[in-house]
Amino acid sequence: MILKTENVVKRFGGLVAVDHVSLGVNEGDIFGIIGPNGAGKTTLINVITGFYQLDGGSVEFKGKDITGFKPSRLCHMGMVRTFQIVNPFPDMTVLENVKVGSLFGNEDSKEDPEEKAERMLDFIGFELPRKTLAAHLNSNQLKYLELARALATDCDVLIMDELAAGLTPGELPDLCNLIRKIRDTGVTVIIIEHVMKLIMEVCERIAVLHYGEKIAEGSKDDVANDARVIEAYLGEEYAV
Ligand SMILES: Nc1ncnc2c1ncn2[C@@H]1O[C@H](COP(=O)(O)OP(=O)(O)OP(=O)(O)O)[C@@H](O)[C@H]1O
Ligand SMILES: [Mg+2]
Repeated sequence: MILKTENVVKRFGGLVAVDHVSLGVNEGDIFGIIGPNGAGKTTLINVITGFYQLDGGSVEFKGKDITGFKPSRLCHMGMVRTFQIVNPFPDMTVLENVKVGSLFGNEDSKEDPEEKAERMLDFIGFELPRKTLAAHLNSNQLKYLELARALATDCDVLIMDELAAGLTPGELPDLCNLIRKIRDTGVTVIIIEHVMKLIMEVCERIAVLHYGEKIAEGSKDDVANDARVIEAYLGEEYAV
């Protein structure tokens, strides 16, 4: 397993936002994390990636205990994430924003950072001119910009928080293909999503959170047919 959490706890005052969550992600998988609003998905990612300090438990990455490691250190080790609320450098161009990722993530890389940034933007199919200021992008374009920036760090694990929110149904197939394409380059992909069509289409394994607790983890079929998951989140639509 490339990433493992063991009894991870995160509290905000009296609220247990993540409640003893243990899960494991296999290398090369596309792994989904789902659950209702406020279930603790983003908080779990914030804890795993070092944006929040955890209140209990441990996290392992590539066989190493990384509990409490800072995001920058984890990025150098190959774990990177995108944000549900996107936060680019608004006064920098598209290309410059992605170049930040290539400069920061891989100091050892022989590739020219700017060429790498170009390559990543091409890879994800970013359509706008590279000189466009980030401030001029709409929210979907910003999400894709952030994805290119994350990929430019040469990550082994990419965690995406609600990339599909705001896309039209017609745009979903392209995103599914892109997620598979990213995985096929050797990146383990973790996606947090409410868009079940995307989750069911691309994920090998899924974990379900509910009020901070993991209520299920397994294959698509396991999860879609799990009585607690149906009650808490999915309804009957995905059961077979
Ligand atoms: N920084 C914070 N301070 C206090 N409470 C927080 C903070 N971040 C999250 N919470 C609370 O923790 C709980 C889990 O929130 P979180 O954002 O992780 O949920 P989520 O599953 O990502 O939801 P959504 O699907 O809406 O993005 C919620 O009750 C939320 O209000
Ligand atoms: Mg969230």
